[in-house]
Amino acid sequence: MSTPLIKLNSGFDIPAVGFGTWQSKPNEVSNAVEVALRSGYRHIDCAWLYGNEKEVGEGIRASGVPRSEIFITSKVWCTFFSKIQDGLDQTLANLGTDYVDLYLLHWPVALNPNGNHPVFPMNSTGTFDVDASCDLESSWKGMEALLKDGKVKSIGVSNFSQKKLEELLPKAEIVPAVNQLELNIYNPELKLVEYVKSKGIVVEAYSPLGSTNSPLLSDEIATQIANKHAIPVPDVLLGYILAKGMVVLPKSVTPSRIESNLKGALGASQVLTQEDIEKLDSVAASGKQKRFLLPPFGVDLGFDNWP
Ligand SMILES: NC(=O)c1ccc[n+]([C@@H]2O[C@H](COP(=O)([O-])OP(=O)(O)OC[C@H]3O[C@@H](n4cnc5c(N)ncnc54)[C@H](OP(=O)(O)O)[C@@H]3O)[C@@H](O)[C@H]2O)c1
Repeated sequence: MSTPLIKLNSGFDIPAVGFGTWQSKPNEVSNAVEVALRSGYRHIDCAWLYGNEKEVGEGIRASGVPRSEIFITSKVWCTFFSKIQDGLDQTLANLGTDYVDLYLLHWPVALNPNGNHPVFPMNSTGTFDVDASCDLESSWKGMEALLKDGKVKSIGVSNFSQKKLEELLPKAEIVPAVNQLELNIYNPELKLVEYVKSKGIVVEAYSPLGSTNSPLLSDEIATQIANKHAIPVPDVLLGYILAKGMVVLPKSVTPSRIESNLKGALGASQVLTQEDIEKLDSVAASGKQKRFLLPPFGVDLGFDNWP
């Protein structure tokens, strides 16, 4: 089974369904990645932060699918923003590959690399210890520099609001290829998506099922639409993103779900009508707006719906 491709502004193609690996335990992620690749996924979404890239690499090799046929994304964590090359080197060593297809700034805020914790440095008020000496311009220059030696094919961002993109874009030599965002029926980011697309940046949707334990599966409107078409609810939630021309990144460590999510997403994207999509677009505004991921950055990230 082949997934549709979306053209990036870097000239490369990205498979529109990617396989998520956050919260997949090291002892389960190799098998999950192997099953995913054998089921037809050709895009794996990783991050240094997830602490499982070594096992993701093992799963890739066990699948027998050639590296050249797989699109691998990773992300540089915020404590590495003043030493981005180090972050990339660790990721490449962990994955056991010479290059990643896409490398993202994980969040638009640098964290203190010499704070009280190597990953989540905190200050006394219970928020992250931000590294004010490292701004977005210098972090992005670090990303642009990576393109020169071929170890990264495309660069992009994640969790960037319009405000953060407006800060970055005038200073960027290379426009980010993607912006990976929390995006689902409870957080559809309708205005932000329009803005991001207008800049030639592809939107990737993370937590399409509502993240941990997939809470969106019990949503009433998604269920009604699923019943109408006699398809499972996850397919509706995933197909909704694809039908809107965005990349969707479902995560699972359960083989049957891994397989059905890919087939279901592709099928549902063909079956959902414009009316269904408009209904799903309006679920959040009917009083259900909610973000599932709220890390304590303690600075204004510029999102409308950040509490
Ligand atoms: N850039 C960022 O800051 C960022 C943040 C969050 C996520 N991401 C990326 O986006 C990916 C997806 O987001 P996510 O992991 O937050 O959540 P998600 O994909 O929305 O949901 C994952 C949850 O749904 C369950 N699930 C999956 N398919 C299912 C199905 N067909 N039926 C019932 N339950 C199902 C999974 O359970 P099982 O695994 O037990 O099957 C897991 O509990 C991540 O893995 C990561 O790669 C990026």
